[in-house]
Amino acid sequence: GGEELASVYDEALDEGFGLVASNIAEPNVMMGLMEGADRMDSDLLLQMSGGACKFAGNGDPVAGLQAMGTYIETIAEQYDIGVFLNMDHQTDLELIEKQIELDIPSSIMIDASHHPFEENVETSREVVEMVEEAGSDILVEAELGQIKGVEDEIEAEEAFYTDPEQAVEFVDRTGADLLAISVGTQHGVAKGKDLELRPDLAHDIRQALRDHGLDTPLVLHGSSGVQPDQLQEMLQHGICKVNKDTRYQYEYTRTAYDLYSEDPNAIVPPEGVEDARDTFFNETEWSPNKDVFDPRV
Ligand code: G3H
Ligand code: ZN
Repeated sequence: GGEELASVYDEALDEGFGLVASNIAEPNVMMGLMEGADRMDSDLLLQMSGGACKFAGNGDPVAGLQAMGTYIETIAEQYDIGVFLNMDHQTDLELIEKQIELDIPSSIMIDASHHPFEENVETSREVVEMVEEAGSDILVEAELGQIKGVEDEIEAEEAFYTDPEQAVEFVDRTGADLLAISVGTQHGVAKGKDLELRPDLAHDIRQALRDHGLDTPLVLHGSSGVQPDQLQEMLQHGICKVNKDTRYQYEYTRTAYDLYSEDPNAIVPPEGVEDARDTFFNETEWSPNKDVFDPRV
């Protein structure tokens, strides 16, 4: 539930770690992530975008959430770690209403960051109110600033960095539990190595919030490919949710592809898929940027 997840963020803020939020759209990557998190003895935050919910539900995002929610809950019983689900980059308020009603996710991200400030405030505030009115403990993540790249149905050609003073006003007026900020990361594969990361800006945002008595956990989107030392620096400034999608999808697909290419007879899904899941979380095999799987990195 949201209350338990909130206490993980409290712990993260105190101790300076970040919980990796890993995107899934189907059970294979989900089971690999659970196994990996368990091996690291870490809690796990899974997340599904609108597109992922539709994919899992054969076109119906509510069916997708229900199916994956049941799948996640059932398999999580095999482990002792905490497993949470976030609804990533949501834009449809009607769908959010349904997600709150079903009470499956522990948190929901409303992404109205591509709208003008006032509209972003209004839409994000509306989601916070929907959760409150339902008497739910689901946490609400909202975003201010714009992250370059493609994520699900949202595409941004240009980056707009988050302004610290505006961040204070935004959190104050929306009542959001978590704030996603734009500090130089990008969504997707084609980001290259020349990211202009701004840990100084994360610092200023965190500072401005704290000056106003706000201890809001910050969220870093587009974290695949960000080097561990860069990530570590971000974690010093209140980032405690680290979104990685491309990283795990890439690793899983590449491993499965390699297996099937090496053995053309391995066409029965369980053979290839089980091997891929295993290879996926053999820490020594990680590539391409060699970051070790650590949901708390
Ligand atoms: O919301 C998901 C993330 O921001 C993922 O970004 O695919 O660049 O890791 P990424
Ligand atoms: Zn994102």
